Amino acid sequence: MTPSTGIAPASGKLGILIPGLGAVSTTFIAGVEAVRHGLAKPIGSLTQMGTVRLGKRTDKRSPLIKEFLPLAGLDQLVFGGWDIYNDNCFQAASNARVLDKDLLAQVQPLLSSIQPMPAVFDKTYVKRLDGPNVKKAASKWDLAQALRDDIRKFKAANGCDRLVMIWCGSTEAFRAPGAVHATLDAFEAGLKASHPDIAPSMIYAYAALQEGVPYANGAPNLTTDTGALLDLSKRNNAPVCGKDFKTGQTLMKTILAPGLKARMLGLSGWFSTNILGNRDGEVLDDPESFKTKEESKLSVLEHILQPELYPDLYKDFYHKVRINYYPPRGDNKEGWDNIDIFGWLGYPMQIKVDFLCRDSILAAPVALDVVLLMDLAQRTPELRGLGIQEWLSFYFKSPITPPGLYPEHDLFIQSMKLKNTMRHIQGEEMITHLGLEYYD
Ligand SMILES: NC(=O)c1ccc[n+]([C@@H]2O[C@H](COP(=O)([O-])OP(=O)(O)OC[C@H]3O[C@@H](n4cnc5c(N)ncnc54)[C@H](O)[C@@H]3O)[C@@H](O)[C@H]2O)c1
Repeated sequence: MTPSTGIAPASGKLGILIPGLGAVSTTFIAGVEAVRHGLAKPIGSLTQMGTVRLGKRTDKRSPLIKEFLPLAGLDQLVFGGWDIYNDNCFQAASNARVLDKDLLAQVQPLLSSIQPMPAVFDKTYVKRLDGPNVKKAASKWDLAQALRDDIRKFKAANGCDRLVMIWCGSTEAFRAPGAVHATLDAFEAGLKASHPDIAPSMIYAYAALQEGVPYANGAPNLTTDTGALLDLSKRNNAPVCGKDFKTGQTLMKTILAPGLKARMLGLSGWFSTNILGNRDGEVLDDPESFKTKEESKLSVLEHILQPELYPDLYKDFYHKVRINYYPPRGDNKEGWDNIDIFGWLGYPMQIKVDFLCRDSILAAPVALDVVLLMDLAQRTPELRGLGIQEWLSFYFKSPITPPGLYPEHDLFIQSMKLKNTMRHIQGEEMITHLGLEYYD
């Protein structure tokens, strides 16, 4: 293995702090524990199962990513979090009904030991939920200080060397960035004045970044996508990434659309609808939370297909996304896509996708990869001061980018960017796939 380029070792314990101990996070935690006990395999996790090719094809060097990069091992992870409900993680996982009872019984000791800390919550941001386990304080500033205290206490009580925070809480009501989010001074004044446009997720992110803890955003909430928090992230060498885990229907979209474009097939319409019966579905049934999700889901095709470059193929395609709350299905979502495409001489064709997926089963390995790679980013001199970790766009529906830079949505470009970043930080040659050297 080539010598590491100054990346600090992944020694000691890594604490994972999670606002929102619901379906995704309990499936993530239970899964890590199941893998640690040899009860199941970490399917879907690139860091645990994937390899990275190094050098020429003829070199035959394809180490496992977890052996190539100095990542924290699963045995080094400890978990904690906040929720508005008092249920411990075993009760929350049982209520979520994602994993079967036998598996849950085998990981019960760990799950039962994780009791949510009282949450920072504001019902105006999540209209469909209300719970008793909520902090009370005179101002949003005081709530941020209480969260900072929670973070420090968790770190000390669990003997953690480092922490990563990952938002797995509900989708909040839509907010556009405003003056209060523009600079750190304005944001801190806004916290003290309990400004209504400061959402709970922003208070968690502020607390994390002030404590030097990286923050990953699993939901489409605005949160760190603001001047104030991006500035804080850079100042404190606490990376951020997001937004919104790329899982079911959007994952399929970012697999299919690049293929259609690569072959210059046109698109006249893409209609996507879902039925979903978990708590996330219930929250998204509220139009204000749905608007946040819709913005995240809609931007994908526009960026991949680039209608401005290919007006004959993609100008004015019709794109619609619907999410319907349908309790009988629970976490087992069904997503339908009807795709109207056209080919040679404009002749129309149709593609139908019916994806019977399991939302949290798709999201849990993403959460695992993201926390391990965010911890790596903070230990990597070249990455830690960047703020946004754009190389992790692979995992998100709505990747954060600096102002003026459009996000890359194509899963295959994202994957190449991710793996080239891994090679680069370990001093390996990047791979261009030119391949002329094989024909010398
Ligand atoms: N499952 C997926 O495939 C997927 C994909 C992309 C994004 N997401 C997003 O991930 C998030 C979690 O999804 P889920 O299925 O686990 O939902 P869930 O409803 O099961 O869990 C969310 C939890 O967050 C809690 N919560 C809400 N506001 C909070 C706050 N301010 N502080 C602390 N806790 C709070 C809720 O009480 C709930 O227990 C959602 O925003 C969802 O949109 C999920």
